[in-house]
Amino acid sequence: MRHLLSVADLDATEATALLDTADRLRQALLGREVRKLPTLRGRTVITMFYENSTRTRVSFEVAGKWMSADTVNVSASGSSVSKGESLRDTALTLSSMGADCVVVRHPASGSAHRLASWIDRDRETTGTPTSIVNAGDGTHEHPTQALLDAATLRDRLGGIAGRRVAIVGDVLHSRVARSNVLLLATLGAEVVLVAPPTLLPVGVEHWPCRVSHELDAELPAVDAVMMLRVQAERMHGGFFPSAREYAVRYGLSETRAALLPEHAVVMHPGPMIRGMEIAPAVADAPSSAVLQQVRTGVHVRMAVLYHLLAGAPE
Ligand code: CP
Repeated sequence: MRHLLSVADLDATEATALLDTADRLRQALLGREVRKLPTLRGRTVITMFYENSTRTRVSFEVAGKWMSADTVNVSASGSSVSKGESLRDTALTLSSMGADCVVVRHPASGSAHRLASWIDRDRETTGTPTSIVNAGDGTHEHPTQALLDAATLRDRLGGIAGRRVAIVGDVLHSRVARSNVLLLATLGAEVVLVAPPTLLPVGVEHWPCRVSHELDAELPAVDAVMMLRVQAERMHGGFFPSAREYAVRYGLSETRAALLPEHAVVMHPGPMIRGMEIAPAVADAPSSAVLQQVRTGVHVRMAVLYHLLAGAPE
């Protein structure tokens, strides 16, 4: 694996290998007083975030540190990006400094692919074969979120193939939804998107999933429900339905959560808008895997760095 840009680039064997590595790394760290493996000693991982993040940026940094890589954070506001430097020039500059991996989040869909093509083309000039990881590009993809969600589901349900997963809410602006639909379908799950018609993207009928507008009708038959964040920052003209109507029809209230089978897992990629997308009591219930998703995120990102920088393990 040279870059991680899209889950569409992973077949079931490659995705499973990443999940298996994440699990082995988790076990390798279990009970250790010092959470440090020497695997990526001497390697440099740079996180370059043009959009805000808590989970993704911090967990990539923690993942790198636990693997003994040198990690550096670059934020758009504190770098020469604020003076007008282009994404290409910034990336080639970091590659020329010897970055083995650049983890990038950017508001433009397709930006991670562009970055990887520039890096590959100018590899001779920069002198470093830098790997690019897509940490979220616009409304397109968020591959490591889908991988950590799959790892969490596999742990909670004992497997993914044949399971039914509902992904609920603002699909239109969600890179998490697209990556999860693609990866879960690759791993053999049945996915249903549940959203108001106004929050579904054009072309969703070609995605490998079913679409529904009725959350109450879907919940009794799912193994997991993934609530999405309503991405107000991408809705420049406000959104329809209103926040109140959205909460009533698509929010996971306590009453609605009671429709779920007993074994069903409740998930949310975070950050959660409590009270609108999910009731606080549901987010904090034993069926909620929200904090397990965060914990698993570190192990999955360790696995991604491992496969990119040290090669897939035997
Ligand atoms: N789930 C997720 O991508 O969270 P952050 O925006 O905090 O990284």
